[in-house]
Amino acid sequence: MSFNYVTEKLYFDNITQLIGNTPLLKLNSVVEKEIYAKLEYYNPTFSIKDRAAFYMLKKAIEENSLKEGDTIIAATSGNTGLGLCFSANFFKMNYICVTFDTVPKEKISLLKAFGANVVICDSKLDSNLEGGYLWVANKINEMIENSYLINQFTDLNNPYVHYTETGKEIWYQMDGEIDYFFSTIGTGGTITGIGKYLKEMNPNIKIIGVEPEGGIYRKVLKGENYEFKNHAVESISDNYISPNVDFNLIDEIISVSDNDSFNMCYETLRKEGLCVGTSSGCVLSGIKKYLTNKALTNKRIVTVLPDLGLKYIDTLYNSEFWKAKGFTQPEDYRIDLKIQENILEAFSKYEVRM
Ligand SMILES: Cc1ncc(COP(=O)(O)O)c(C=O)c1O
Repeated sequence: MSFNYVTEKLYFDNITQLIGNTPLLKLNSVVEKEIYAKLEYYNPTFSIKDRAAFYMLKKAIEENSLKEGDTIIAATSGNTGLGLCFSANFFKMNYICVTFDTVPKEKISLLKAFGANVVICDSKLDSNLEGGYLWVANKINEMIENSYLINQFTDLNNPYVHYTETGKEIWYQMDGEIDYFFSTIGTGGTITGIGKYLKEMNPNIKIIGVEPEGGIYRKVLKGENYEFKNHAVESISDNYISPNVDFNLIDEIISVSDNDSFNMCYETLRKEGLCVGTSSGCVLSGIKKYLTNKALTNKRIVTVLPDLGLKYIDTLYNSEFWKAKGFTQPEDYRIDLKIQENILEAFSKYEVRM
């Protein structure tokens, strides 16, 4: 017996080569129609933000704005922070993450574990005004020598990496057969970069934004007055219009309730086997809502699921959080109540609980 020796290299040289080229999975049950979902939790720190974080640093190094030993400062609600910390470690730099007090503690713990110095600001303050987290990040940058402020809201390398990589990956994975692209909007890097690439390849592709109720982008697109209201879905549609959102590329923006987004995360876990974060629940329930008004027969729908659900132990997987928010609990459909009662009764003397 002889082996067919593999001549092509089948391993990666370092972890940064695992950024991007994420799988595209056809979802079959969570929405009535097939949806093609790009699983961004396959990135090294389990979110889409690794792409922009690594690229922003790489470009700053190439442009001689950053070098080994320098300190990177960034205001972020978590995922970009992780991506930046991961990249800073790779390039042997220090990292200060400026964030705010509503970011779940498991995200903060993870950032610290990665080696970030974390500064937590008051979320009630306007992010750009005195004391707000963007303002604080700027001030820290002025205080420290050899520091470099990364601003993902204005850094054009953020949408650019989605234009040159994520958008192109989607186009090739779908063999160009795309009619609709749905995305959440945070800094706008994802929707702007992918939207631009797809529209250039085929101007008929519709780009639809999805945001939680309380977000401001839908009203901004329509030119209406807006008032921001807090929402439980994280990392998107904050009280700030990001300059990296190119509204000319967006055909429509729809909004969905936190309750629907959170419940969709459970449905996605149970019906598709995908453990996704709250913004993924938001975009999928947005697609579902959109389809109740428009059938989109024979149309191919693509979306991006930005991160991993395990990052949300304290909210998504915490029944106390659900109760406090008044969300409808997802049905426990595996065994009926009578069987549960029988189990409890059978083992009552051992104080078994369910
Ligand atoms: C979980 C999650 N979803 C969606 C987004 C939005 O992506 P973008 O900033 O590219 O608009 C982010 C951004 O931080 C995120 O962390």
